[in-house]
Formats: sequence, C-alpha cells, structure tokens
Amino acid sequence: MRKYELSPSLLSADFGYVMRDVDSITPYCKFLHLDVMDGHYVPNLTIGVPVIKSIRRHSGLILDTHLMITNPEEFIKPFADAGSDYITFHIECTDKPFELIEQIRALGKKAGVSIHPDTPAEKIYPFLEKGAVDLILVMSVRPGFGGQSYIPESTARLSDYRKRLDENGSDAILSVDGGINVSTVKEAADAGARLLVAGSAVFGKEDPGLAAKALYELLGETF
Ligand code: DX5
Ligand code: ZN
Repeated sequence: MRKYELSPSLLSADFGYVMRDVDSITPYCKFLHLDVMDGHYVPNLTIGVPVIKSIRRHSGLILDTHLMITNPEEFIKPFADAGSDYITFHIECTDKPFELIEQIRALGKKAGVSIHPDTPAEKIYPFLEKGAVDLILVMSVRPGFGGQSYIPESTARLSDYRKRLDENGSDAILSVDGGINVSTVKEAADAGARLLVAGSAVFGKEDPGLAAKALYELLGETF
C-alpha cells in the first residue's frame, strides 16, 4: 500500500458499462469501494451480493464492501463468499460489534467499522485499540447518496482518530467516505485519512482513470 490510496466508489459508475468503468481505474488504483444499501438504515437501495460476485470474477482489485444495512450479522457470510476483501459495517446497526468483527475475520476477511457523522465520535474509541479492527470508516456525509458535500467537522474527527490510532500503535486503516474530490482530498489526507473513498469525483467523471490519477497526484503519489 502507498501512504495514501483511493477507493473509488462504484455507486457513481455507469452500471450498464460497469467493467469498462472498473477497468479504467485499474491501472491506477488498488481498491474498489462497494456501497450496499438496504432502504432501512439509509433511504436508498443499491447493489448486493450478485453484483459483487460478478465484479470479483472480473477484477483483481481489493473489494472494499461498505454495508449500510440494519442487520449486518445476517449478511457477513454472503458478502464474504461473494469475494469481498474488506467488510465494513455501521456501528449504529449492531449491539455486538466485536462479535461481528470476529465473524468477518473467521471468514478470512478484513473487518471495518463505520461511523455516521451524527454519532458521537467516542462511540468507536474502543475500536482504535491496537488489533481491534482492520479499518475505520469515517462518514463525511450522511450515508445514502453519492454526490453530497464533505461535512467540514469530519476533519477534526479524522485528526482525533489518527492521533489515537498512532498512540495505540494500531495499524488499522483510517478511511473517509463522502464528498472527497479535488478540493477536499488533501484536507482529509492531512488530517490523517489514508484510504480515501471517492465516488462522483472518480466514476462521475468522463475518464474515471484520469480522475483517479489526478487525485493521487494531489496526494503526492506518483506512478
Ligand atoms: C454514501 C456512500 C459513498 C458514496 C460517496 O453513502 O457510502 O461511498 O458513494 O460518494 P461521493 O464520493 O460522490 O460523495
Ligand atoms: Zn461508502
């Protein structure tokens, strides 16, 4: 992994030409972010197991699955079997987060915990301990839709988590999701994010590969 990586969110791709879009970022990117929404936790529906399974068959990218669903425990196995590499659930959607992490890891996958911008930052402090989890996903918009604006308070949240992860010696990846584009990517990275999710700023562009390359260049990464 470079110091910074992008995880382009497929939500903004053209699903009629989905592999064309995935192929266009593949020379530059290592991750692909997959947003699963259930119409309950968030007021929207997106993709599920069959789409991820198909993408897995045709792509070697690291599949970064973001579950925005109310009963994640019922769907860990199907999303693991579909070929996800990282499975991230929302802290607001479970009473047993540590069991979920164990379930994900027992299936040989990396586990992530995500936090809604309206949830107090302290809620996920226990997961900043060394070894507690593999990825922390800070939502910088209210989950549910692509193309929203970055919530400025997310920057302080990222800095706080970065500091705590470093103090604890945790190597969990700090990721940020929502409103990341050429104007905000540097701010989130400087605050401590290492894996930057970007949907409309990559797949919403005419040439997603070049858009990803431009974001990497702003982060100081070269090819
Ligand atoms: C929103 C999703 C995001 C979304 C980001 O709920 O979790 O991953 O695709 O889209 P942009 O980058 O356009 O804000
Ligand atoms: Zn997402």
